[in-house]
This record gives sequence, structure tokens and C-alpha cells, in this order.
Amino acid sequence: MKIGSVSLESPFVVAPMAGMTDTAFRRLVKREGGCGLVVTEMVSSEGLVRGIDRTLEYAEYTEAERPVSIQIFGGDPLKMADAAQIVEGMGADIVDVNMGCPVPKIAKHNAGCSLMREPAHAAAVIGAMVKAVRIPVTVKMRAGWNDRSRNAPELARMVQDAGASAIAVHGRTAEQSYTGVADWSLVAQIAESLDIPVLGSGDCVEAVQVLEKMSSGVSGVLVGRGVLRNPWILAQAAALAAGQTPRTVTPLERGRFLLEYIELLLAERCDEAEGFRHAAPGAEGSTVNAPPPEARGRQRWVINKLRALCAWYTKGIDSGSSLRVRVNAATSIDELRAIVHEFFLTTPLNVTSDGLLSSRR
Ligand SMILES: Cc1cc2nc3c(=O)[nH]c(=O)nc-3n(C[C@H](O)[C@H](O)[C@H](O)COP(=O)(O)O)c2cc1C
Repeated sequence: MKIGSVSLESPFVVAPMAGMTDTAFRRLVKREGGCGLVVTEMVSSEGLVRGIDRTLEYAEYTEAERPVSIQIFGGDPLKMADAAQIVEGMGADIVDVNMGCPVPKIAKHNAGCSLMREPAHAAAVIGAMVKAVRIPVTVKMRAGWNDRSRNAPELARMVQDAGASAIAVHGRTAEQSYTGVADWSLVAQIAESLDIPVLGSGDCVEAVQVLEKMSSGVSGVLVGRGVLRNPWILAQAAALAAGQTPRTVTPLERGRFLLEYIELLLAERCDEAEGFRHAAPGAEGSTVNAPPPEARGRQRWVINKLRALCAWYTKGIDSGSSLRVRVNAATSIDELRAIVHEFFLTTPLNVTSDGLLSSRR
């Protein structure tokens, strides 16, 4: 599949998820295979343009994640165009526009899903961005604002005409938030009617569901919560698509994933080789956007990250709720490691210099 000039080796994509799909997580998922594209957490266009926003770090990525799409949000066409240029300057492959976020804090600023309520303005935002950059501009939208306004089909056409290179549709309305089910028939209808690639999003928890959704006629599938539960889901879907049996993920692998995530988070911005991290101008080396440097602050940050991931990661596994309770009660990294180790692993592990794990046996 191609988005503009960018070729994706697989149609399966890590969906943008604020607070969850940070660069460390994306690197680990990408490593498992089957992932054609990763999308960053949403980044404020205002923050990018001013270069002072604490959320600037959300746009950072590493070479290992390519192709990378950086998702921005905002409602001012000029600022969105400026932000797109910053994203292009960071070397990202694609700039994506968030037209799906239903959270009032975002939506009230004429950004996120509230752009869907003003289609002409939304198209003007895309038009301004397309003029400003050479990389593909894409849009992620919902079915509409509410059941009385399920205007994704019309808006999708308008942003296509404004120059968007691809569109992703999460088949719920903003009012639905995450309740009910995603309307994949609407997604299929949009895919049928547009000339650019249309990707669908919503409710793929099993690899087989990712494949089923592909048969609705979309060019690709974004997987969100399914990746948080099972970071191997894209690799498993790719295996299924190739007619192979998807691999079974062992408890050992599940434990190692969490331990490696801890180590990568602990190592973020510490002793990184030059050029390892692609950061916005002003953010490189800046401590404003880095995880807290002091050991205790950083540990707290990592513990909170693990708690957030484990809220999803422990779903659907035996005794997952007991693991979740224990992770939530952990107060130090050592305790966290011991909990993960005891739950998933029987073999002691070494941490290598790159933050990855090797078995001592
Ligand atoms: C914790 C969380 C954070 C999310 N953050 C974003 C975001 O920053 N930008 C965005 O476009 N969608 C965001 N989404 C929506 C997802 O990208 C996806 O469209 C939605 O969860 C439906 O897909 P799923 O059922 O595979 O999770 C978020 C979803 C979750 C669960």
C-alpha cells in the first residue's frame, strides 16, 4: 500500500493513542513485525509552533520506527500549516491531522472531532497544510459528531479534494466516545467512494478480526487497544494474511516485553547516540520535555507508564486482574520488575546495553 509517495510494507498500523504509543512502545511493537506504519500520539500544533509545549516530546521518534506518521491537532489553518512544516523538518514520513478526538479540552478549541462540525473549515485546514509541505497529509476522523451528523462520507470527500493523501476512519461518533461498536459498514462505504487509500479503525482485538476488516475493502487497518493488549497482533495478522499460522506468544515473551519497555523508558534520552532521536527544533537536548532527570521523578514516570499500559495489557490473560492490582500498587522499579518477573518468567534475565534483554541460561 502507498500513502502518497510513502510505501507501507504492511497495511497494518499502530493507531495513535495519547499517553500510550510513545516511541519506546512503538519501537517494541515494530520489532515484532507486521507493522506497516506507526502514528505518534497527538501533538498540539500550537505547542509545535511555539516550541515551548511540554507535549513536544510526543512528536519524537527514532529511525527504527520508520515509516512514521506524526499526528497533530489544531483548528487554525495557518498554524496547522506551520506545524506541518515543523513535522516535515523533523524528517517524518507523513503528517496526520486529528479530527477524531472527542475530549472537550481539545474539541472546544475547534480541533479534534469538532473540526467535523465545520467541514469547509476542516477542508481549509488540510488545503493549507498540503500547500505548505511535500510529505503526504492524512486525516483521521470519526463517523461524525453524533448520530444526527454522521458526515464522515462527505467530509472524507472534501478533504480528499483538498489534497489529503489518505484517510483513516474510526467508525464511532464523538458522542459515542468508546461505547457501542465501530460502524465498519460506514468505513467500507467511504473506502468504496474515494480514490485515495481509506484505512479503518475500531474494535480489532484478535488478529483474525484485523483480517476480516481488511475484507471490507479498506486499504489498511489501524489497531489501537488491541496492540496494547497484545503487541504481537499485527505480526499475527500479517502471518494470517500470508496464509501462515500466527505465532503463539508465550508468557515469557509477554514478560520480556514489559521488562524491555521498562528499560527503554528508563533509558529515554540518557546516553543516546547522536541522531538517534528525531526531535523538533528547540527540543533537542532540552530538559523541558524530557522525562524527569532525577532518579525518583523518572522512576515515578516509568511506573505510571507501566500502570497505564498494564490496564490494557492484563486484559484477557489468566489472573490478569491480580497482576493489574499489583502493578498499580508498585512503588519502585525494582518492585515492578519483580512483579513482572514473578508473574511471567521463570528464567533470570540480563539487561544488555541497548535496554534489551537476554536470557542468562
Ligand atoms: C488510550 C487511547 C488514546 C487515544 N489517543 C488517540 C490520539 O491521540 N489520536 C487519535 O487519532 N486517536 C486516538 N485514539 C483512538 C484510536 O486511535 C482508535 O481510533 C480507537 O481506539 C479505536 O480503535 P481500537 O478499537 O482498535 O482501539 C485513542 C484511543 C485510546 C484507547
